[in-house]
Amino acid sequence: MVTISNRVSRWTPLFFVFALANFLTAQALIVAGLTWPAQAALVPGTLVAVHLLTVGWLLLLMLGALFQFVPVITSTPLPSQHLALATLIAVQGGLLGMICGFMGIAGVLPGHSRALPAGGVAVLAGVLIASGNIGVPLIRGRPLTLPARLVLTGLAFLLLTVLLGLAFALTLTVPAIAPALVPLLAGVGDHALAGLGGWFTLAAMGVSYKLLPMFMLAPEERGVTGDWVHVLGTAGFSLAVAGGLGAVWLSAPLARVAQVAGYAAIAGAVALYLWDVARIYRTRKRAVVEAHNLCAVGAFGFLGLAAGVGIASLTAGRLAEATPALVFLIVFGWLGGLGLTQLYKIIPFLTWLNRYGSSLGRGAVPRVQDLVKESRSYPWFVCYFLGVLLAVLSALFDWRIAFRPAFALVPLATVGLAIEYARAWRGRYVREQPTAPAVSPFLPHERGRP
Ligand code: HEM
Repeated sequence: MVTISNRVSRWTPLFFVFALANFLTAQALIVAGLTWPAQAALVPGTLVAVHLLTVGWLLLLMLGALFQFVPVITSTPLPSQHLALATLIAVQGGLLGMICGFMGIAGVLPGHSRALPAGGVAVLAGVLIASGNIGVPLIRGRPLTLPARLVLTGLAFLLLTVLLGLAFALTLTVPAIAPALVPLLAGVGDHALAGLGGWFTLAAMGVSYKLLPMFMLAPEERGVTGDWVHVLGTAGFSLAVAGGLGAVWLSAPLARVAQVAGYAAIAGAVALYLWDVARIYRTRKRAVVEAHNLCAVGAFGFLGLAAGVGIASLTAGRLAEATPALVFLIVFGWLGGLGLTQLYKIIPFLTWLNRYGSSLGRGAVPRVQDLVKESRSYPWFVCYFLGVLLAVLSALFDWRIAFRPAFALVPLATVGLAIEYARAWRGRYVREQPTAPAVSPFLPHERGRP
């Protein structure tokens, strides 16, 4: 049974602290011009920044959020809080190993290249532990809801991504034990697609299908539209990745057909999802949309823009040239934007459960929204999305000189938002307004108490 005490995921706040630290470190590398889009793909600086963003920021953010929300989705507690901590240690420790390994390959840390596969094994261990901790309650919670199905499918893609990454790491550092894997290096784009698309995008769709209706009081049941988003998304990413990897060995036109059919299905899934998200906003019962959901519209806009840029560059035969800007759009605009906006609700929600959840019904407590001051957040969200948009435009149109000044808005906004998250966590705005509206006690005999 889920009670207030076992509803709180003890280690989720620490996941968020590490995730934000990794995010800011990657942003510092970009501002310093040590990574893509200023530098080429596959140079060590780019590989370090890409994995700080994908493993360090997005993976820790998503797992931290899932450890909190899977009990809410399934109404069963997490099998183990200790395993959540083990995941954090394995993934963050593994990431540090991967970074040493990338620098070892580049000769910056000579003799450390074997840290790359070692780090990959640690990340794999963390992902396996998390998959058990999240997957078991999701599978047991029958019938499987749409968010559960999307997250479970995403976890399968996550496993594939990490296994592919590990195979690359072995190929690059211990070629003697992996000769059969060398051709796989041509499939680096499929590793990226499985991770950014099959895992993060499907899991983000699943989590948003839970959080958007929950906080806007809209119908949660998405009917046949939600089923199609899941089916098209799963088929699309599976076909595109299988087609890409198949081409590594077969170079058959069949592989190309599978890839193109996959891209078409992905475009269909994204279009349906965005239409359905608009429907959630339209059918909400809550009159005023809170800041986190209002600003999330920016992230949905970037998902649509990424799909548009992907389709246009594919039909123009320029997908390879557009890929760096496309990855940037997805990582910062869609996934990063959704992450930052939803954190603005998840952190006060966690704070509220931690501090006031157990005293609900025994005295007056503040509301979740009293823990934040929304007017302070809007300038930071505008600054973030504007920075991403200007940086993407300069990458797409090759205005190299404009990229870094435009991008500087992104770390500025991230620091501003991190300060707001910390203020919510420390209850600063509640202390500042002692007259903030409070939830009155549930129990009638306690209503007279101060
Ligand atoms: C969520 C998980 C992950 C995502 C989304 C991801 C994403 C990416 C992306 C986008 C690239 C291309 C970078 C570029 O073009 O410069 C890449 C390359 C690479 N990734 Fe990952 N990655 C993940 C996990 C891992 C793991 C756990 C390892 C294990 C060590 C790994 C090892 C590698 C290697 C070795 C390359 C370079 C391959 C080459 O030089 O051809 N990745 N990854």
